[in-house]
Amino acid sequence: MKAVRLHRFGGPEVLQYETLPDPRPGAGEVLIRNQAAGVNPIDWKTRSGGGARPFLGEPPLILGWEFAGEVAEIGPEVSDWSEGRRVCGLLNFPHPGSCYADRVVARSSQLVALPDGVAPEVAAGLPIAGMTAWQALFEAAELESSHKVLVLAAAGGVGHLAVQLAHWKGATVVGTASPVNHAYLQELGCSQVVDYVSADLASAVQDCDLVIDGVGGQAGIEALGCLKPGGLLVTLPTVTADEVVKAAQEQGLKAQGIRVHEDPAQLATLLALVADGHLKPRVERTFALSEAAEAHRLSESGHARGKLILTMEG
Ligand SMILES: NC(=O)c1ccc[n+]([C@@H]2O[C@H](COP(=O)([O-])OP(=O)(O)OC[C@H]3O[C@@H](n4cnc5c(N)ncnc54)[C@H](OP(=O)(O)O)[C@@H]3O)[C@@H](O)[C@H]2O)c1
Repeated sequence: MKAVRLHRFGGPEVLQYETLPDPRPGAGEVLIRNQAAGVNPIDWKTRSGGGARPFLGEPPLILGWEFAGEVAEIGPEVSDWSEGRRVCGLLNFPHPGSCYADRVVARSSQLVALPDGVAPEVAAGLPIAGMTAWQALFEAAELESSHKVLVLAAAGGVGHLAVQLAHWKGATVVGTASPVNHAYLQELGCSQVVDYVSADLASAVQDCDLVIDGVGGQAGIEALGCLKPGGLLVTLPTVTADEVVKAAQEQGLKAQGIRVHEDPAQLATLLALVADGHLKPRVERTFALSEAAEAHRLSESGHARGKLILTMEG
């Protein structure tokens, strides 16, 4: 198979495009002919030596936790999938998922069928960003149509899906973004968009039931000022979650961090929303697998709109 591996942690240049033996599906597993893999900020954070590194063991390692492709081979004791089925999934996060490869092995229970009309490049970007948005809005919080929700980094991978899901639920949605993204976010359903550079957020946005903090650190702490009494801030970047939660506690406010978890039924719900047009994942750019380093550079710039996707040549 073709895969991108890192042999040491470091800059984008440590990502190497290589030819490796195909993995074999064991009992209860399926081999996937992978067509697309999502790129997430956790990928470059991990590549740099942070992020999910404690869960991964020593290099060489294949990054990537989300994929979409076709079933190529069924392992022993698998009865629920057949060759050629179009599938996608979130694999083992934060333990190794190894999705930066054109062959991927998954447990059959991790697979979700792709609805007709949903392209692999679109589906591959949905598991992490889509389920993070869903779990923040509907598990950590219990978003209702009467609620007002503020999404920080609203044009990003998680943010643009959180905005659409909250709007679909009937909530009032406010987003933060650079001016270049304001019209886009209004199209997605934001009733107000705030430029996080020029505005004082706590003055511009008040009385929120929920804040989804896709930025973390000081931005998350400042957004506590947008909550109404009893409101909740869900902070996504795990590296700053403790400081945001501590700042909330000191002000008598509620905040919590989350870590996205596998939930194939939830992913199936998200895919159905995509298939019927209620959820429109935006693919900012696709890269060939061999260009993974370039995808990391763009992700690391912090200004992608929507998702970055690696596509497989084979
Ligand atoms: N805990 C978990 O399980 C979990 C899961 C997924 C993601 N995350 C974390 O959540 C964060 C967001 O993930 P993502 O995939 O959405 O990232 P992303 O796609 O890389 O986010 C890019 C967006 O961030 C915006 N942005 C950058 N700096 C900003 C600021 N100071 N204020 C407001 N917006 C800003 C940019 O907006 P403009 O271009 O408009 O400036 C851009 O649209 C990352 O730290 C990621 O690691 C955590």
